[in-house]
Amino acid sequence: MTNQVLSCKNVGINFGGLQAVQDFNLTIDDGELIGLIGPNGAGKTTVFNLITGVYTPTEGEILLSGINIIGKMPHQIVRYGIARTFQNIRLFDHLSVLDNLKVAANKDMRYSIFSGMFRLGGYWREESEVTDKAIEILDIFDMGKHAYKYANSLSYGEQRKLEIARAMATDPKLLLLDEPAAGMNPTETDELMDTIMLIRNEFGITTLLIEHDMRLVLGICERLMVLNYGQILAEGNPRDIVNDPLVIEAYLGKGE
Ligand SMILES: Nc1ncnc2c1ncn2[C@@H]1O[C@H](COP(=O)(O)OP(=O)(O)OP(=O)(O)O)[C@@H](O)[C@H]1O
Ligand SMILES: [Mg+2]
Repeated sequence: MTNQVLSCKNVGINFGGLQAVQDFNLTIDDGELIGLIGPNGAGKTTVFNLITGVYTPTEGEILLSGINIIGKMPHQIVRYGIARTFQNIRLFDHLSVLDNLKVAANKDMRYSIFSGMFRLGGYWREESEVTDKAIEILDIFDMGKHAYKYANSLSYGEQRKLEIARAMATDPKLLLLDEPAAGMNPTETDELMDTIMLIRNEFGITTLLIEHDMRLVLGICERLMVLNYGQILAEGNPRDIVNDPLVIEAYLGKGE
Protein backbone atom coordinates (compact mmCIF):
# COMPACT_ATOMS: atom_id res chain seq x y z
CA MET A 1 0.00 0.00 0.00
CA THR A 2 1.16 3.46 -0.77
CA ASN A 3 0.61 6.40 1.51
CA GLN A 4 -0.93 8.65 -1.11
CA VAL A 5 -2.32 11.87 0.24
CA LEU A 6 -3.63 13.23 -3.05
CA SER A 7 -4.40 11.57 -6.32
CA CYS A 8 -5.67 13.44 -9.38
CA LYS A 9 -6.59 11.21 -12.29
CA ASN A 10 -7.24 12.64 -15.76
CA VAL A 11 -8.69 15.78 -14.25
CA GLY A 12 -9.97 18.44 -16.61
CA ILE A 13 -12.15 21.52 -16.71
CA ASN A 14 -13.67 23.39 -19.57
CA PHE A 15 -14.87 26.97 -19.18
CA GLY A 16 -17.35 27.48 -22.00
CA GLY A 17 -15.02 26.15 -24.68
CA LEU A 18 -11.68 27.01 -23.05
CA GLN A 19 -10.01 23.80 -21.84
CA ALA A 20 -8.21 25.41 -18.89
CA VAL A 21 -6.87 22.08 -17.54
CA GLN A 22 -6.71 18.77 -19.37
CA ASP A 23 -5.59 15.25 -18.43
CA PHE A 24 -4.05 16.38 -15.19
CA ASN A 25 -2.49 13.47 -13.32
CA LEU A 26 -0.66 13.89 -10.05
CA THR A 27 -0.14 11.69 -7.03
CA ILE A 28 1.48 13.06 -3.91
CA ASP A 29 2.78 10.82 -1.16
CA ASP A 30 2.70 11.67 2.50
CA GLY A 31 5.32 14.28 3.41
CA GLU A 32 6.30 15.26 -0.12
CA LEU A 33 7.05 18.88 -1.08
CA ILE A 34 6.20 19.41 -4.73
CA GLY A 35 6.31 22.45 -7.01
CA LEU A 36 3.75 23.23 -9.69
CA ILE A 37 5.23 25.64 -12.20
CA GLY A 38 4.45 26.98 -15.66
CA PRO A 39 3.94 30.24 -17.57
CA ASN A 40 1.17 32.75 -16.78
CA GLY A 41 -2.25 31.41 -17.64
CA ALA A 42 -1.03 27.79 -17.75
CA GLY A 43 -3.78 26.61 -15.40
CA LYS A 44 -1.92 26.35 -12.09
CA THR A 45 -4.40 28.25 -9.92
CA THR A 46 -7.22 26.42 -11.68
CA VAL A 47 -5.69 23.14 -10.45
CA PHE A 48 -5.85 24.50 -6.88
CA ASN A 49 -9.45 25.60 -7.43
CA LEU A 50 -10.31 22.10 -8.63
CA ILE A 51 -8.63 20.40 -5.65
CA THR A 52 -10.30 22.75 -3.14
CA GLY A 53 -13.82 22.46 -4.56
CA VAL A 54 -14.05 26.02 -5.91
CA TYR A 55 -14.60 24.42 -9.34
CA THR A 56 -16.00 20.99 -10.11
CA PRO A 57 -13.97 19.16 -12.75
CA THR A 58 -15.72 18.32 -16.00
CA GLU A 59 -13.56 15.15 -16.22
CA GLY A 60 -11.54 12.92 -13.94
CA GLU A 61 -11.34 12.12 -10.26
CA ILE A 62 -9.66 13.60 -7.21
CA LEU A 63 -8.97 11.49 -4.14
CA LEU A 64 -7.75 12.68 -0.76
CA SER A 65 -6.28 9.74 1.18
CA GLY A 66 -8.34 7.48 -1.08
CA ILE A 67 -11.64 9.33 -0.58
CA ASN A 68 -13.36 10.97 -3.54
CA ILE A 69 -13.74 14.69 -2.84
CA ILE A 70 -15.34 15.77 -6.09
CA GLY A 71 -18.61 17.57 -5.47
CA LYS A 72 -17.67 18.60 -1.93
CA MET A 73 -17.96 22.27 -1.04
CA PRO A 74 -14.79 24.26 -0.21
CA HIS A 75 -15.61 24.41 3.52
CA GLN A 76 -16.11 20.62 3.58
CA ILE A 77 -12.79 20.11 1.85
CA VAL A 78 -11.08 22.15 4.59
CA ARG A 79 -12.54 19.69 7.08
CA TYR A 80 -11.24 16.78 5.04
CA GLY A 81 -7.78 18.27 5.49
CA ILE A 82 -6.82 20.51 2.58
CA ALA A 83 -5.76 24.09 3.34
CA ARG A 84 -4.63 26.74 0.91
CA THR A 85 -3.30 30.25 0.58
CA PHE A 86 -4.18 32.56 -2.30
CA GLN A 87 -2.18 34.25 -5.03
CA ASN A 88 -3.31 37.63 -3.62
CA ILE A 89 -3.27 38.01 0.15
CA ARG A 90 -6.67 37.38 1.71
CA LEU A 91 -6.61 38.27 5.39
CA PHE A 92 -9.18 39.89 7.63
CA ASP A 93 -7.38 43.25 7.65
CA HIS A 94 -9.25 44.72 10.61
CA LEU A 95 -8.99 41.70 12.85
CA SER A 96 -5.96 41.09 15.02
CA VAL A 97 -3.33 38.58 13.96
CA LEU A 98 -4.59 36.28 16.70
CA ASP A 99 -8.21 36.56 15.57
CA ASN A 100 -7.22 35.79 11.98
CA LEU A 101 -5.91 32.49 13.27
CA LYS A 102 -8.84 31.82 15.56
CA VAL A 103 -11.28 32.15 12.69
CA ALA A 104 -9.48 29.26 11.00
CA ALA A 105 -8.78 27.22 14.12
CA ASN A 106 -12.43 27.04 15.14
CA LYS A 107 -13.49 24.76 12.29
CA ASP A 108 -14.09 22.00 14.84
CA MET A 109 -15.91 24.08 17.46
CA ARG A 110 -18.87 22.19 18.81
CA TYR A 111 -20.59 24.53 21.25
CA SER A 112 -24.18 25.27 20.37
CA ILE A 113 -25.53 28.65 19.27
CA PHE A 114 -27.36 28.67 22.60
CA SER A 115 -24.26 28.24 24.75
CA GLY A 116 -22.47 30.78 22.53
CA MET A 117 -25.22 33.38 22.97
CA PHE A 118 -25.35 32.98 26.69
CA ARG A 119 -21.63 32.39 27.14
CA LEU A 120 -22.15 29.06 28.89
CA GLY A 121 -19.42 26.64 30.02
CA GLY A 122 -18.99 24.89 26.67
CA TYR A 123 -18.43 28.20 24.93
CA TRP A 124 -15.66 29.34 27.27
CA ARG A 125 -13.95 25.96 27.24
CA GLU A 126 -13.74 25.81 23.48
CA GLU A 127 -12.97 29.51 23.17
CA SER A 128 -9.97 29.13 25.44
CA GLU A 129 -8.81 25.97 23.66
CA VAL A 130 -8.96 27.77 20.32
CA THR A 131 -7.07 30.76 21.73
CA ASP A 132 -4.38 28.48 23.17
CA LYS A 133 -4.02 26.68 19.89
CA ALA A 134 -3.79 29.96 17.94
CA ILE A 135 -1.12 31.31 20.29
CA GLU A 136 0.83 28.08 20.00
CA ILE A 137 0.81 28.34 16.20
CA LEU A 138 1.87 32.00 16.31
CA ASP A 139 4.79 31.04 18.52
CA ILE A 140 5.85 28.28 16.15
CA PHE A 141 5.92 30.85 13.35
CA ASP A 142 7.71 33.34 15.62
CA MET A 143 4.78 35.76 15.33
CA GLY A 144 3.67 35.79 18.95
CA LYS A 145 4.92 39.38 19.30
CA HIS A 146 2.36 40.46 16.67
CA ALA A 147 -0.67 38.68 18.20
CA TYR A 148 -2.69 41.79 19.06
CA LYS A 149 -1.76 43.94 16.06
CA TYR A 150 -4.12 44.44 13.15
CA ALA A 151 -3.29 42.07 10.31
CA ASN A 152 -2.92 44.98 7.88
CA SER A 153 -0.29 46.64 10.07
CA LEU A 154 2.19 43.81 9.42
CA SER A 155 4.89 43.98 6.77
CA TYR A 156 4.12 42.28 3.47
CA GLY A 157 6.32 39.29 4.28
CA GLU A 158 4.69 38.88 7.71
CA GLN A 159 1.20 39.04 6.18
CA ARG A 160 2.14 36.24 3.79
CA LYS A 161 3.47 34.24 6.73
CA LEU A 162 0.26 34.87 8.67
CA GLU A 163 -1.73 33.43 5.79
CA ILE A 164 0.35 30.27 5.93
CA ALA A 165 0.00 30.12 9.72
CA ARG A 166 -3.76 30.50 9.32
CA ALA A 167 -3.86 27.64 6.84
CA MET A 168 -1.90 25.53 9.35
CA ALA A 169 -4.47 26.33 12.05
CA THR A 170 -6.99 24.10 10.24
CA ASP A 171 -4.73 21.03 10.84
CA PRO A 172 -4.27 20.17 7.18
CA LYS A 173 -2.94 16.94 5.74
CA LEU A 174 -2.21 18.79 2.52
CA LEU A 175 -1.15 22.42 2.20
CA LEU A 176 -1.53 24.28 -1.10
CA LEU A 177 0.45 27.52 -1.48
CA ASP A 178 -0.30 29.73 -4.50
CA GLU A 179 2.75 31.87 -5.30
CA PRO A 180 3.76 32.43 -1.67
CA ALA A 181 6.87 34.41 -2.68
CA ALA A 182 5.06 36.79 -5.05
CA GLY A 183 6.10 40.37 -4.31
CA MET A 184 8.73 39.38 -1.74
CA ASN A 185 12.24 40.74 -1.57
CA PRO A 186 15.12 38.20 -1.38
CA THR A 187 15.33 38.36 2.43
CA GLU A 188 11.60 37.73 2.78
CA THR A 189 11.88 34.85 0.31
CA ASP A 190 14.69 33.29 2.37
CA GLU A 191 12.51 33.47 5.48
CA LEU A 192 9.61 31.98 3.56
CA MET A 193 11.77 29.05 2.48
CA ASP A 194 12.64 28.46 6.15
CA THR A 195 8.94 28.59 7.05
CA ILE A 196 7.98 26.05 4.39
CA MET A 197 10.79 23.72 5.44
CA LEU A 198 9.70 24.07 9.08
CA ILE A 199 6.17 23.01 8.17
CA ARG A 200 7.45 19.97 6.35
CA ASN A 201 10.22 18.92 8.70
CA GLU A 202 8.56 19.64 12.05
CA PHE A 203 4.99 18.71 11.16
CA GLY A 204 5.39 16.41 8.18
CA ILE A 205 2.74 18.31 6.23
CA THR A 206 2.50 17.41 2.57
CA THR A 207 2.85 20.54 0.45
CA LEU A 208 2.12 21.49 -3.14
CA LEU A 209 3.25 24.96 -4.11
CA ILE A 210 2.85 27.13 -7.17
CA GLU A 211 5.77 29.46 -7.66
CA HIS A 212 7.56 31.52 -10.29
CA ASP A 213 10.62 32.19 -8.13
CA MET A 214 13.07 29.56 -9.37
CA ARG A 215 15.46 30.10 -6.48
CA LEU A 216 12.72 29.05 -4.10
CA VAL A 217 11.53 26.19 -6.28
CA LEU A 218 15.04 24.79 -6.74
CA GLY A 219 15.90 25.46 -3.11
CA ILE A 220 13.14 23.42 -1.52
CA CYS A 221 11.04 21.33 -3.95
CA GLU A 222 11.78 17.63 -4.32
CA ARG A 223 9.81 17.17 -7.51
CA LEU A 224 8.37 19.54 -10.09
CA MET A 225 5.40 19.41 -12.36
CA VAL A 226 5.21 21.82 -15.30
CA LEU A 227 1.92 22.95 -16.77
CA ASN A 228 1.61 24.63 -20.15
CA TYR A 229 -1.69 25.50 -21.83
CA GLY A 230 -3.50 23.40 -19.23
CA GLN A 231 -1.49 20.25 -19.87
CA ILE A 232 1.44 18.60 -18.14
CA LEU A 233 4.53 19.44 -20.13
CA ALA A 234 7.14 17.76 -17.93
CA GLU A 235 7.63 16.39 -14.45
CA GLY A 236 10.50 15.11 -12.40
CA ASN A 237 13.65 16.16 -10.63
CA PRO A 238 13.91 19.99 -10.33
CA ARG A 239 17.42 20.27 -11.84
CA ASP A 240 16.43 18.20 -14.87
CA ILE A 241 13.21 20.13 -15.32
CA VAL A 242 14.81 23.57 -15.43
CA ASN A 243 17.30 22.35 -18.02
CA ASP A 244 14.65 20.68 -20.16
CA PRO A 245 14.56 22.48 -23.55
CA LEU A 246 10.77 22.05 -23.77
CA VAL A 247 10.33 23.78 -20.42
CA ILE A 248 12.73 26.58 -21.31
CA GLU A 249 10.88 27.12 -24.57
CA ALA A 250 7.51 27.22 -22.79
CA TYR A 251 8.79 29.96 -20.47
CA LEU A 252 10.74 32.01 -22.99
CA GLY A 253 8.87 31.35 -26.21
CA LYS A 254 10.32 29.77 -29.33
CA GLY A 255 13.57 31.03 -30.78
CA GLU A 256 14.96 32.71 -27.65
N1 LIG B 1 -13.64 31.00 -13.89
C1 LIG B 1 -13.05 31.05 -15.10
N2 LIG B 1 -13.76 31.26 -16.22
C2 LIG B 1 -13.15 31.31 -17.43
N3 LIG B 1 -11.83 31.15 -17.62
C3 LIG B 1 -11.06 30.95 -16.54
C4 LIG B 1 -11.62 30.89 -15.22
N4 LIG B 1 -10.60 30.68 -14.33
C5 LIG B 1 -9.47 30.61 -15.06
N5 LIG B 1 -9.74 30.77 -16.38
C6 LIG B 1 -8.77 30.73 -17.48
O1 LIG B 1 -8.03 29.54 -17.35
C7 LIG B 1 -6.67 29.75 -17.73
C8 LIG B 1 -5.76 29.36 -16.60
O2 LIG B 1 -5.83 30.34 -15.56
P1 LIG B 1 -5.06 30.17 -14.18
O3 LIG B 1 -5.46 31.30 -13.31
O4 LIG B 1 -5.27 28.82 -13.66
O5 LIG B 1 -3.54 30.34 -14.64
P2 LIG B 1 -2.21 30.34 -13.76
O6 LIG B 1 -1.33 29.27 -14.28
O7 LIG B 1 -2.52 30.33 -12.32
O8 LIG B 1 -1.55 31.75 -14.18
P3 LIG B 1 -0.72 32.84 -13.31
O9 LIG B 1 0.70 32.35 -13.25
O10 LIG B 1 -0.83 34.08 -14.12
O11 LIG B 1 -1.36 32.95 -11.98
C9 LIG B 1 -6.56 31.21 -18.14
O12 LIG B 1 -6.71 31.29 -19.54
C10 LIG B 1 -7.73 31.85 -17.42
O13 LIG B 1 -8.15 33.00 -18.09
MG1 LIG C 1 -2.28 31.64 -10.77
